[in-house]
Formats: sequence, C-alpha cells, structure tokens
Amino acid sequence: MPALVLLGAQWGDEGKGKATDLLGGSVDYVVRYQGGNNAGHTVVVGDQKYALHLLPSGILSPGCTPVIGNGVVVDPSVLLSELSGLNERGVDTSKLLISGNAHIITPYNVTVDKVTERFLGKRKIGTTGRGIGPTYADKINRVGIRVQDLYDESILTQKVEAALDVKNQILTKLYNRRAITATQVVEELLGYAEQIEPYVADTVLILNQALDDDKVVLFEGGQGTLLDIDHGTYPFVTSSNPTAGGACTGAGVGPTKISRVIGILKAYTTRVGAGPFPTELFDEDGEALRRIGGERGVTTGRDRRCGWFDAVIARYATRVNGLTDFFLTKLDVLSGWEQIPVCVAYDIDGERVEELPYSQTDFHHAKPVYEYLPGWQEDISEAKTFADLPKNAQAYVKALEDMSGAPISAIGVGPGREETIEINSFL
Ligand code: IMP
Repeated sequence: MPALVLLGAQWGDEGKGKATDLLGGSVDYVVRYQGGNNAGHTVVVGDQKYALHLLPSGILSPGCTPVIGNGVVVDPSVLLSELSGLNERGVDTSKLLISGNAHIITPYNVTVDKVTERFLGKRKIGTTGRGIGPTYADKINRVGIRVQDLYDESILTQKVEAALDVKNQILTKLYNRRAITATQVVEELLGYAEQIEPYVADTVLILNQALDDDKVVLFEGGQGTLLDIDHGTYPFVTSSNPTAGGACTGAGVGPTKISRVIGILKAYTTRVGAGPFPTELFDEDGEALRRIGGERGVTTGRDRRCGWFDAVIARYATRVNGLTDFFLTKLDVLSGWEQIPVCVAYDIDGERVEELPYSQTDFHHAKPVYEYLPGWQEDISEAKTFADLPKNAQAYVKALEDMSGAPISAIGVGPGREETIEINSFL
C-alpha cells in the first residue's frame, strides 16, 4: 500500500506540479485533500503548459484517477470551467472523483472573503479572494453546504437560508452591502448539480479499497507548511491543513497507511500575501530571483515576495510533517551568483535561535543569520545526474540536505518534465 504525501515545505508555490508530474505514470490515484481553487500549479507536458487551480494534477496522466477529497472546498463554477478548458484541449477528465462530503464555495462565501479583506484594510491577510476562509468557517460553524446537498433541493434551500440568516445581517449592517437572496443562490447551485453528479462518489471507501489492493495513491497538498492553519505563520495562513496530517483527515485514510512524506522545497524562498518572511529581499537580488524564477502567482497573477533559502523553515517542515524526503526545485534559478546566502538560524532580539519560534512576536522580530556558500556560473539545465552538477552546486545541495533533516531525493533543474535529477526513487 504505497501511499505518498507530497506537500509544500515552505509558503507554497514550490513547484509541486512538477513533482506529481514526475511520478505521474506510476501513480493510480492523485488526491487533493485540502484547499480549493486558491492553489495553483503549472504542469508542463511536452510543449503544453497547463495551469490548474482546483483539479489534482493527476488529471493530466491518462492512467490515473484524480480525486477531490472531503477536505477540499469546491467552487462549482471553477470546477466546471477548469474541466471544460481541459476537455477543449483534448484531455479526458471522465475519471475524476469528487467526495460528496467536500464543501461548496458558495457565491456568498466569495463575497464575504472580498469584503472582509477590504474591511481589514492594512491588517488584511492578502487572501486569494476565492472564498476559501469563509467556506471553511461555515464548515466549522456547521452551516456549510456540501456537494451532496446539491441533490436534495429542500435540504439545500434550508441550509442556504440558515447560512444567509447571519451573513445578511453582517453584509447589510456591518459592511453596508446588499443582502443576498437564498433563492438566487439555490438556483445557481442547482444549475451545477447535474453536470457534477457523474463525478460524485464515496471517495473514502474507494481510496481505502485502492490501498488494500496495493494501488499507488498520491496525496497532493495545496499551499505549503507555513500556510497551515495550525502550524503556519498564523494569522497569515490559509484556512486548512496542508501539512501531512491533513491528508488523513482530508481524504479519510489512517496515518498508518502513509508510507512516504515528500516535502517540496524551493532552492530559495517565496511567499505571496502578507505576513512575516525573515529572508525576504528588497534589493536587486530579490528582483533577480523573481525575474529568473518567474515568481508570479498562477492563481492571482501577483508578484511573489522572494528571499534566500531558510534552513530553519526547512527543519521545521521536516518535523511537523515527518518528512522522509525532499524534492529540491528550481536549483537552476541560482546559477550565476558569486556566493549564495543561506539562513542557518535567526537572531531574535540579540539571541541566536536555531528553531522556528512558536511565538508570533519572536518570529516577526527574527533576522536571518547567513552562511555564504560559493555559487556557480554554469547553466545546469542539462544535468541528468547529481555528478553532472558543478561542484559548488553539489555542495549547495548537500549543505541544504544537512541543515534540513531529510534526504534530497530529487532536484529540479528546469521547468520541463525531463529537467529533473532523480537521486532516490519515490516508489
Ligand atoms: P486564502 O487561502 O485565499 O485564504 O489566502 C490565505 C493566504 O494564503 C494568503 O497569504 C494567500 O496568498 C496564501 N495562499 C493561498 N493559496 C496559496 C498558494 O497556492 N500558494 C501560495 N500562497 C497561497
């Protein structure tokens, strides 16, 4: 029962699509277990580039069954437009399975996300504005709408009315917006029901049976470890659990079934939205990383904040996820620097700190303590094995591995499918 979890070890956008793509052919199921269309990954297949937001990347591998687990929040209009976009390009999407227990992002959740951010002003989170937080809030408040509710009009109506009762008070009295009528929302949601129905399934049963049958199941995390609602840089986080434990709750499989947990780690660091980021650069080096790395959000189109590699974060990711391996991405972006700073610890109010502080105040005060590693000038995109890398690039990878606490089993040296050095097989 090879069950692998693949997740972001930093703040998301580490290049997970490339890693799932590498495993593509050998995986039977690719499962998303949290988040929604706030995620975004680009998968390159041949000369075709696909930007996916909600669908699991396995949708592009013909032999693979893509699954949207119970822990995901689904915007039906985005789901259907992503599916039809792929169909138009000749991709067969008929194998997709969607948990009946997944929650629906309703139009009022999107409205609440946007008006709340506006209301917060300077204190805003910098959300993707896709209604993710408000939908998870409704789930926890037990006023959420689930995929299965689309198939019982009377229940759906009751639930939408209940959810809007409070929300309309807030929208009209606090935010000075117009009230949203339940009938309109119900009508819109019912309009999606028939098209989605063929995909709806008992995904928990199907996935556990698949594991019993020794199928290879890959759990694909959206966002990243430091955006986790429990283990991230709260409150500047997303509203779900991208960390490894989220795969169990968000897909309905027990922790004893997980055999490998792979952290995707960018050779430098990026972050979108607000919140602390100790190694962030505001100079030409940051600009160069952004330009060479193409650091612009797939979902939002926002420029990503860029900085040097932070080993404190990588160690933390190893610990909270129980990582067995790292997939180091975008090493090629670092070609051309004389020397490359790596953050090995923090200086917090004059004290050297080796581990991520649990205190938000301390983390906001953290200043990077750098070690400077010698750079390399060569283009490394043609490297096929570790030995093909320039000596200084090899030393950089080894140093990161030693500091981060898990073996680096694959290295991305370019965006294409074949531009990956595999050191240890993931299967
Ligand atoms: P939300 O997930 O839209 O609620 O946004 C919460 C925070 O998570 C914001 O800082 C977003 O920029 C960030 N975020 C959400 N999804 C992603 C992602 O896929 N990559 C990177 N950051 C993300």
